[in-house]
Amino acid sequence: MAGDRAIGIHDLSFATTEFVLPHTALADHNGTEIGKYHVGIGQRSMSVPAADEDIVTMGAAAAAPIIARHGSDRIRTVVFATESSIDQAKSAGVYVHSLLGLPSATRVVELKQACYGATAALQFAVGLVLRAPAQQVLVVASDISRYDLDSPGEATQGAAAVAMLVGSDPALVRVEDPSGLFTADVMDFWRPNYREAALVDGEGSVTAYLQAVEGSWKDYTEQGGRPLDEFTAFCYHQPFTKMARKAHHHLLNTRGHDTDEDRISRAVGPTTAYNTVIGNSYTASTYLGLASLLDQADDLTGRLIGFLSYGSGSFAEFFAGAVVPGYREHLRTPAHHEAVNRRRPLDYAAFRRLHTRSFPADGGDHPTPTQTTGPFRLAALRDHKRIYERCQGHL
Ligand code: HMG
Repeated sequence: MAGDRAIGIHDLSFATTEFVLPHTALADHNGTEIGKYHVGIGQRSMSVPAADEDIVTMGAAAAAPIIARHGSDRIRTVVFATESSIDQAKSAGVYVHSLLGLPSATRVVELKQACYGATAALQFAVGLVLRAPAQQVLVVASDISRYDLDSPGEATQGAAAVAMLVGSDPALVRVEDPSGLFTADVMDFWRPNYREAALVDGEGSVTAYLQAVEGSWKDYTEQGGRPLDEFTAFCYHQPFTKMARKAHHHLLNTRGHDTDEDRISRAVGPTTAYNTVIGNSYTASTYLGLASLLDQADDLTGRLIGFLSYGSGSFAEFFAGAVVPGYREHLRTPAHHEAVNRRRPLDYAAFRRLHTRSFPADGGDHPTPTQTTGPFRLAALRDHKRIYERCQGHL
């Protein structure tokens, strides 16, 4: 609850990419024992964008079913969260607004704080709805994670977008006060403007994440939050799914709770199904965890979910959400399964070609090859402008 009013996630939909790279292909390429990927980091495959897909096409594909179901009459704000931004000035949300044909009387903005951005967007949306309860906010979290080839981070790439409609009397999850907050100035993961791929201190990033779990939970408790035992499940940011297990183990341990594996599996296991095959989708990852939980778990009506959103650099927020009665009637489980299952597998050489592809910066006309079978595509970079289109068959 935000104050006395129930505000939260009314609808949730995700989209991912045209292609997928199985970790078996990566392991064959670099000679890694596959157990390190499947068990050690908990990843089976990663989504790979086609040459004509980006954060805008994924974001629009995630949000389109929400607009189709609810219309856009009540949407007055679009908040686009990303850390793989395509422009230093223009919000990617404006392209999504255009592709979806949303009304001109809409506020559109882009937010950034590494993987935390989507939670910032969600919390800002809750605040806007509190001020104007008849309005709804469309939150779009879309990212492509990129590390250098042949680096330890390579196995933790991925891409996806989650769209959420935030409003009063939500059909899925009520967002509660208070939040626990934790900021620390650390260089665990960052991407200078001149780089396509992120820089990372792998081990340091895991430590920074765990410190942020501890710090945000401490503040949550001090702000009058609920005891740990009241939560049924925990949606952690999942750069790789094993990280959710490490985080929950750390939280239980620092609060003096039993850390047996079954308890950890019950709390985080159902949140990992999509992330384990999609990979790190940065801002979208925590909410892919929520989609997985709602789509996979037994009836969660009235149950409390803990959300731990971490963004390197770093900031973390812990908050609670309560699952609303009747939520199952509003889920998009078949479409989510289709988004994952429709991806076409790549071999490692094809993945590498896509990874190293970039647009020339000469301002010329650079059409993209038609690869995606999704509803939207990046057709060209022309005169330094990104040209998007709705695909044939999705008109
Ligand atoms: P690495 O050096 O490739 O792997 O780095 P490792 O040697 O640490 O091994 C990983 C695990 O596999 C270990 O388990 C091994 O024991 C195990 P752990 O000790 O951690 O429990 N292992 C095996 N298990 C079974 N069978 C085997 C086997 N071999 C080894 N045969 C690392 C791994 C994640 C650091 C690397 O991939 C990396 O740098 N990734 C990118 C950074 C990252 O994801 N950091 C996570 C925290 S920061 C974060 O979440 C924010 C982020 O999303 C960005 C943002 O906020 O914007 C990244």
